[in-house]
Amino acid sequence: MQIPFFSFRDFPGGLTQQVEEALVQELRQQRLILGPTVTAFEQEFAQLLGEGEVIGVGNGYDALVLCLKALGIGPGQEVVVPSNGYIATVNAVMQVGATPVFAEPDGETYNMTAATVTAVLTGKTKAILPIHLYGQSCELTDLLHLTQKQNLYLLEDFAQAHGATYKGRRVGTFGQINATSFYPTKNMGAAGDGGAVTTQDPALANWVRQHHNYGQQEQYVFAQVGINSRLDSLQAAVLRVKLKVLDQLNHERQRLGQRYHIALANVGDLVLPLATREGVDHVYHLYVIRTAQRDQLQAFLQNKGIGTLIHYPVPPHLQPAYRHLGFKPGAFPVAENLAKTCLSLPLFPGLSEAEQDYIITQIEAFFRR
Ligand SMILES: Cc1ncc(COP(=O)(O)O)c(C=O)c1O
Repeated sequence: MQIPFFSFRDFPGGLTQQVEEALVQELRQQRLILGPTVTAFEQEFAQLLGEGEVIGVGNGYDALVLCLKALGIGPGQEVVVPSNGYIATVNAVMQVGATPVFAEPDGETYNMTAATVTAVLTGKTKAILPIHLYGQSCELTDLLHLTQKQNLYLLEDFAQAHGATYKGRRVGTFGQINATSFYPTKNMGAAGDGGAVTTQDPALANWVRQHHNYGQQEQYVFAQVGINSRLDSLQAAVLRVKLKVLDQLNHERQRLGQRYHIALANVGDLVLPLATREGVDHVYHLYVIRTAQRDQLQAFLQNKGIGTLIHYPVPPHLQPAYRHLGFKPGAFPVAENLAKTCLSLPLFPGLSEAEQDYIITQIEAFFRR
């Protein structure tokens, strides 16, 4: 059997056809930039989130940069980011001229917490930028409490957790302003690049709405020196289709996650992700296991036709691009240990039980050798 790490499957049945039809219809409408479909998607996503406004932008990285700029964050200021996150989050802080400060993740959830953030706060800290990593919500009550007490901004990166809830409320609605990506493999993926900014603050929303479209206030009147980062209409058309089934897609991911969870409990030295807990959703953007024999397990599965990935093999502070920050191995041991031991298994809507059973059987076989 050959099982890719990720594949677009027709789940729920008929989705592929709906996406193709939406694309053709959008092309025929000939309103390819900032047309009515983008507005409709923004409104529908805002409705799903339950509060605030949504501004579609070019990609998740731009969404992060726009959020930071909207908050006025820049040189001389620090933003706390996770030491085990994706590089985009750190790069966005650099892009606005601020300094990224790394906070360790919690060893069980792999998300940064109020305690790990508190340890790195300084007088220059302006904002904290948590990622709901792998699809699991951070402990937002604690983070909100901390930001309120310390007078800091909260900016959620919910690129990996579309639709996830924390105590009944969708993530992406807790920060003053928040960023997400619609990279195709995300839980709600476009057919190319896409992203969004969300906020409940109308002034911030207006600022982003202008800034992402060259700072345009009305046609050919530019109130600020803005940029071009717009969600294009073809992507919005795809996303409108995906949005309708987002909860269904997430439930399928959770069902598959639960199947792994039951089958892989007590296999070898495997550490499994924390299952969905009361009030704290995990929508399994990624199903990440840990083992001391990670590289051997990955090679073994590869030999059996099973694709896996590592999210992420080198933490940001040890990347060549961040050498100038001067961190040595050992600076962030939790993140570094995670990088050495984590392995993401195939989990996507449409993965069949037979395929999943094959993956489970091969993992068991590896540990029986
Ligand atoms: C947590 C996180 N933030 C930001 C991004 C960047 O999004 P994009 O690729 O759309 O720029 C990604 C991934 O793509 C991500 O996983």
